[in-house]
Amino acid sequence: MNKSLLLIALLPLAAYADDLRLPLNAPPAFQAECGSCHVAFPPQLLVADDWRRVMRSLDKHYGDNASLDEKTRQTLEDFHVRNAGGRKVGAGRTAPAGELPRLTQTDWFLREHREVPRADWTHAKVKTPANCAACHTRAADGSYREREIVMPNGKHRKD
Ligand code: HEC
Ligand code: HEC
Repeated sequence: MNKSLLLIALLPLAAYADDLRLPLNAPPAFQAECGSCHVAFPPQLLVADDWRRVMRSLDKHYGDNASLDEKTRQTLEDFHVRNAGGRKVGAGRTAPAGELPRLTQTDWFLREHREVPRADWTHAKVKTPANCAACHTRAADGSYREREIVMPNGKHRKD
């Protein structure tokens, strides 16, 4: 492959990562409610049906209770569904049957992170793959650029 072809092949991936910026039309409750226990996850990383399931089970939220008043809940469900991801995130294979879907279990997520050593996921500074901000230093702002990644051993991915 010559250089320009390679560049074209890489473009869609780069553009996709940029698209993870939090949508400008996000309701204030998004950061306030969904960014209080963990970073506010980009809605683009789950498909619409999965977000409906998550948003309709907030009282049993991955072992926690994240209940909201109905008006806020509906606003946030609509927001997630409107900005949900498509085929690229790998709809369907998201979680064992009966459990809530996880964006850390989509084909897309596993592919993007295939180079992360297993021990890094359980490292004391990380604890769980859902702890995006442990490695993506600007995750709270919805930014996941490669040059912002610092691994648990303190090493930058790119210097
Ligand atoms: C009271 C704390 C709390 C609040 C508020 C909260 N969450 Fe969570 N959330 C958690 C915990 C705890 C987990 C499980 C983390 C883990 O297993 O690593 C989680 C996990 C998730 C996951 C799965 C992450 C994965 O592993 O892929 C999604 C999606 C999610 N939350 C979305 C939301 C949304 C959307 C909101 C706002 C409506 C929200 N959360 C509000 C505590 C909370
Ligand atoms: C243990 C550290 C770690 C954690 C935790 C982590 N990531 Fe990553 N992430 C990486 C590494 C390493 C890459 C691969 C960078 C590369 O080689 O392109 C990556 C890649 C990405 C990319 C692609 C970036 C690009 O420019 O191609 C996105 C988007 C991303 N991660 C989002 C997330 C989200 C969302 C979470 C939390 C749900 C998360 N990551 C949790 C380390 C981590």
